[in-house]
Amino acid sequence: MDKIKSNIILIGFMGSGKTSVGQVLAHRLSYRFMDTDQVLEKQAGDTINHIFQVHGEEYFRDLETRLLQEYRQKLQNTILSTGGGLILREQNSILLKEIGYVVYLKASKETTLKRLKGDTKRPLLAGEDLDKKVDRLLTARMPIYEKASQKIVITDNKAIDDIVYEIMEAYMRYSRA
Ligand code: S3P
Repeated sequence: MDKIKSNIILIGFMGSGKTSVGQVLAHRLSYRFMDTDQVLEKQAGDTINHIFQVHGEEYFRDLETRLLQEYRQKLQNTILSTGGGLILREQNSILLKEIGYVVYLKASKETTLKRLKGDTKRPLLAGEDLDKKVDRLLTARMPIYEKASQKIVITDNKAIDDIVYEIMEAYMRYSRA
């Protein structure tokens, strides 16, 4: 299989299940699992929260772009789970499509709020009024996720196994084409 065909990339808003779904998917396909946030934290020896605090969002976005450039040629048989804002740079969306099959895990505002309530790890959601923040970011990003993806999977009220099954079906069709 072509290298590009052998990677699946999961995009979507914070709390959309990219990491949990990605891990199960990788297991089912016997693929490697990789998460951009985890790699960046490891490379920086720092937490995302702290990177945002000290250097700001733009710096973090630079790290994401550099990571994709670094891994573009290297990835094979990999499920790549991405940070929720990585697709904000058009350059990154282009890079993602060069790396693999891009799947958008789409969750409604209600599901997202339920999953993110009480979260302390995400700098963009820190402080008051989670509802407003999620609403604003989700509205702005939804069309970007849709444009950046080759397949949209609605995740509301679905079990992880069902989401994984849907992705695998679409991926099989894609990789046979
Ligand atoms: C971000 C999402 C986070 C992380 C950072 C910024 C965003 O990843 O990259 O906090 O801008 O949506 P998750 O989507 O894995 O939470």
